[in-house]
Amino acid sequence: MKKLVRISLIAACAIAAPLSMAQTSAKLKVGLMLPYTGTYASLGNAIENGFRLYLAEKGGKLSGREIEFIKVDDESDPSKATDNVNKLIKRDNVDVLVGTVHSGVAMAMAKVAKDTGTILIVPNAGADVVTGAMCAPNIFRSSFTNWQPGYAMGEVVAKKGHKKVVTITWKYAAGDESVNGFKESFEKAGGKVVKELTLPFPNVEFQALLTEIAATKPDAVYTFFSGGGAVKFVKDYAAAGLKKSIPLYGPGFLTDGTLEAQGAAAEGLLTTLHYADSLGTARDNAFRLAYAKTYKLQPDVFAVQGYDAAQMLGIGLAAVKGDISKRAGFVSAIEKAKIDSPRGAFTLSKSHNPVQDIYLRQVVGNENRFVSVISKALADPARGCKM
Ligand code: BEZ
Repeated sequence: MKKLVRISLIAACAIAAPLSMAQTSAKLKVGLMLPYTGTYASLGNAIENGFRLYLAEKGGKLSGREIEFIKVDDESDPSKATDNVNKLIKRDNVDVLVGTVHSGVAMAMAKVAKDTGTILIVPNAGADVVTGAMCAPNIFRSSFTNWQPGYAMGEVVAKKGHKKVVTITWKYAAGDESVNGFKESFEKAGGKVVKELTLPFPNVEFQALLTEIAATKPDAVYTFFSGGGAVKFVKDYAAAGLKKSIPLYGPGFLTDGTLEAQGAAAEGLLTTLHYADSLGTARDNAFRLAYAKTYKLQPDVFAVQGYDAAQMLGIGLAAVKGDISKRAGFVSAIEKAKIDSPRGAFTLSKSHNPVQDIYLRQVVGNENRFVSVISKALADPARGCKM
């Protein structure tokens, strides 16, 4: 009897060992769902560049596992998002999802990730709900919530003495939540948002709305746009003659990765963000140099977020020696980590969103130059998160 038990134990080990070895020596499949076309295409490319840079620094492997990318262009189109993410999970059997830029697409990704238990790392989209009411142990973000830079900017604009502000943005979660964050702190400090102007994403016909701003004569304008739309908005705002008379403020997405195209129209703009071009730390200098050498481009916040998404994946994998099926160890390692980001080290909140410094920056030439730390270790309120 004893002999029989021993034999079956040996047989079980013989079967189990190759299985777990196969699990940790096979390529790790990463589903990269990002916009590669449309107004956010440059953001998607920068995120992928950042992710690949970290991987290259680790010799192309994380915890001994090569990475196989399965890429999808999500076109920043929420109506295609559920199909896209289901294909990555069910057809391509990805181990991890990384994506995306657009909040509406990210919400669909988060829903599927939550339902299937697939690990999701969000390298940009700020949808508050992803680390709010939709929060889940398997969902992480390496970026921000839309609330964070908006809230920080409300305090800046109030301190400048502006009382009456008009907001203008695309009508979708990112624009709405950015404006809400701004409004929350600005009105708490005694200001008033007198008009909230919107247009559908990714429409860039700004003329009628600029005319309305001119007629309203606010003290200042707060805006959320990014990518190609931000280039056009900043240029149109200046061309309409508004820049001289009504100061323009926004979260740093307005001027990150866009300065060459915006030219003089962006000069002097003040924005708030968790990254700046001239932090001057050894960590950021090394990152910027490596990025510029590899891609012959200057990095922006999106590249940093992609780089940090790869770091977070690396931290989780290291804790489980590459075996991502060991879920509890993977999750708790990222939860406890201090992530050594080029933006400055950050930790994750209970809801898995970065707790991070928000910087005030000013456009000087082709740089979003650091002005000051405007909000130290700002945590999103994670409204509705039960985790
Ligand atoms: C968003 O949709 O959440 C987003 C897009 C571009 C820049 C920042 C946020």
